[in-house]
Amino acid sequence: MKKLFAALFAVLAVAGTADAKTLVAYYSRSGNTAAVANQIVAATGADVYRIETADPNHYPAEYQPTTVQAQQEINDGILPEINTIPDLIEYDTVFVGTPCWWGTMASPVRTFLTNADLAGKTVIPFNTHEGSGAGSVHTDIAALTPNSEHLNGIAIRGSASANSTDTINAWLTEIGIIE
Ligand SMILES: Cc1cc2nc3c(=O)[nH]c(=O)nc-3n(C[C@H](O)[C@H](O)[C@H](O)COP(=O)(O)O)c2cc1C
Repeated sequence: MKKLFAALFAVLAVAGTADAKTLVAYYSRSGNTAAVANQIVAATGADVYRIETADPNHYPAEYQPTTVQAQQEINDGILPEINTIPDLIEYDTVFVGTPCWWGTMASPVRTFLTNADLAGKTVIPFNTHEGSGAGSVHTDIAALTPNSEHLNGIAIRGSASANSTDTINAWLTEIGIIE
């Protein structure tokens, strides 16, 4: 009988692992956050959802006008329309990635978190930046997902984003995502 229970638990444990799926949801305007997302995917085998604005020309091509528009959106609480959010029901862990914009998350990520239901899931923030570090990005993501569990995030300098595999893997190990 004892052996039967042990076998049953072993089967359930394997089934539990197979069911536990991870998603990396991120927005990236100029590729830095995408580079970090790709390294997380390489380390974890997670699925990917790249958040895009529904209108590909929503932001100007130039950096400076984009900062002006982004600041206005953040100040006015404007949520740009985004592409279709995948069905999240099968995921129990969701990485949420964003560039730091004016100290907080990029507006399309705010749209995602406002429209997606991440209740009961584990949310792990990551961001790229050019000097602000995490700013209030991680706390703002946590505030928009009050019914989720949160693990410590990471902030990577944009210019180093393509060469941060060791840092990213060390962080993933520290928070218990990889061994
Ligand atoms: C609209 C806008 C606002 C930004 N605001 C900040 C900021 O407040 N602090 C900072 O360190 N970097 C800021 N940056 C720089 C980006 O966070 C950085 O370049 C980031 O790596 C870009 O990521 P991406 O290539 O994934 O879009 C800003 C960039 C843009 C376009």
